[in-house]
Amino acid sequence: MNNQERESQRTSGVYSKRPVEIVRGEGARLWDSQGKVYIDCVGGHGSANVGHGNRQVAEAIAQQAQRLMVCPELFYNDRRAELLEKLTSIAPRGLRRVFLSNSGTEAVEAALKFSRLTTGRTEFVAAMRGFHGRTLGSLSATWDKKFREGFEPLVPGFSHIPYNDLNALDEAVTGRTAGVILEVVQGEGGVRPGAAEFLVGAQRLCRERGAMFIVDEVQTGFGRTGSMFACEHYDLEPDFLCVAKSIAGGLPMGATLFGDRVGEIPSQVHGSTFGGNPMVCAAALAAIDYIETNHLPDRAAELGTWFIERLKRIQSPLIREVRGLGLMVGIELKQKVTPYLQALMGLGVLALPAGLTVMRFLPPLVISQDDLEQAALAVQEVLS
Ligand SMILES: Cc1ncc(COP(=O)(O)O)c(C=O)c1O
Repeated sequence: MNNQERESQRTSGVYSKRPVEIVRGEGARLWDSQGKVYIDCVGGHGSANVGHGNRQVAEAIAQQAQRLMVCPELFYNDRRAELLEKLTSIAPRGLRRVFLSNSGTEAVEAALKFSRLTTGRTEFVAAMRGFHGRTLGSLSATWDKKFREGFEPLVPGFSHIPYNDLNALDEAVTGRTAGVILEVVQGEGGVRPGAAEFLVGAQRLCRERGAMFIVDEVQTGFGRTGSMFACEHYDLEPDFLCVAKSIAGGLPMGATLFGDRVGEIPSQVHGSTFGGNPMVCAAALAAIDYIETNHLPDRAAELGTWFIERLKRIQSPLIREVRGLGLMVGIELKQKVTPYLQALMGLGVLALPAGLTVMRFLPPLVISQDDLEQAALAVQEVLS
C-alpha cells in the first residue's frame, strides 16, 4: 500500500486532498515523492512566509528542543518573555498584552471571550464572506454556510453585514455589541481588500459605542500584504489583533494581542496547555527576526505589485478580476476554479482556491521573481 492509500484509509475525511505526496521543501519550492518539483503558491495556507527549510528557524527549534521543549504558563520562561516583548514592539500602537495559543481559530476565540468579559455584552458583528476559523465561537463569526451547515445552533448573537458597507455596519453596531470582527483583506472569502473608509469607520464606530474592534490578521500578518501587519496600511489601532499562520515559521502558534480598552483579564478564565511553549516561542523569535532582517514585508510589497500587474496582462475571457495586496493575490474567474488549479499543478505550480471561483496565491515571501514569472506563465497557459 502506498502512503496516499495509507492516509486515505485512516484520515478523518474532512480534507479533500490532491493526489500528490509532498516530502521536501526549500524556499518557495516543494518536491513530491516522485521527485517532481513545484513552485509553491499555497505556502502552507499562508504559514510559510519565511520559506520552507528555513535554516535560521530550524536551528532555533533544534537548539531550544534540546534545552527546554515544554513549559506551561504556570511558570515564567526566557524565550516567552523575549517573544512577548518582540510581538508588542512590532504590533500596531497600544497592543501591549498577549495571549499565546496554537492556531488562528484559538487566537479569535480568545478575542471573543475577552470582549465579552470586558464589555459585559454578548453580540458580535462580522462580515459576509468573512472567515475566522472553525471552532464553535470563531465559526459563528465565519460567514459561509458551507463551513456552518451541520453545526448549528452556533453561538447566538452574531450578525453579518456586507464587507466594505459602512452604513450597514453603522446600523448593526448597538449598545449590545461586544465587538466587531473583520479581516483587513478577506482571504478565504475571495482575496478582497478592505476599503480604508470602511475599516477606519469600523474602528470609530466601535470607539463611539463601547464595542471592541477585533482585527483578524491570521492570514495577512507577518509581512504578507507588504507591511508587517495589514493594519499599518490604514493606521488602524485595533483593541484586539489576532495572528497565527506564519508567526512561528511554520510551527503552530496563535497570538491574541490586546490594548488598554480591554479590561483586566482575571486569572484562570482562559488558558492553553501548549500556549507559550518555549520551542515554538524560539521558532517565532527566529522567524520574526528573519522577516525583519530580510525586509520580507518590502519584498512582498514590490513583488506583489509586480505579480498583480503581470497577471493583469494575461488575456483570457475566463478572468473577471485580478486583485490583492502584497503577495496575497487572487484571480477571480467566471467559472469554478478547481479544474484550473488541477491543470496548474500539472504544470508544476501549486495554488489555492478562495471560495468557488477565485484562484489564490500565498507564496512564501522569499519566492524569486523568476518563480513568480513561471507561475504567471502557467496561469496564462491554463486560462487560455
Ligand atoms: C483570517 C483567518 N482567520 C482565522 C483562520 C483560522 O486559522 P486556523 O486554521 O489556524 O485555525 C484562518 C485560516 O485560514 C484565516 O484565514
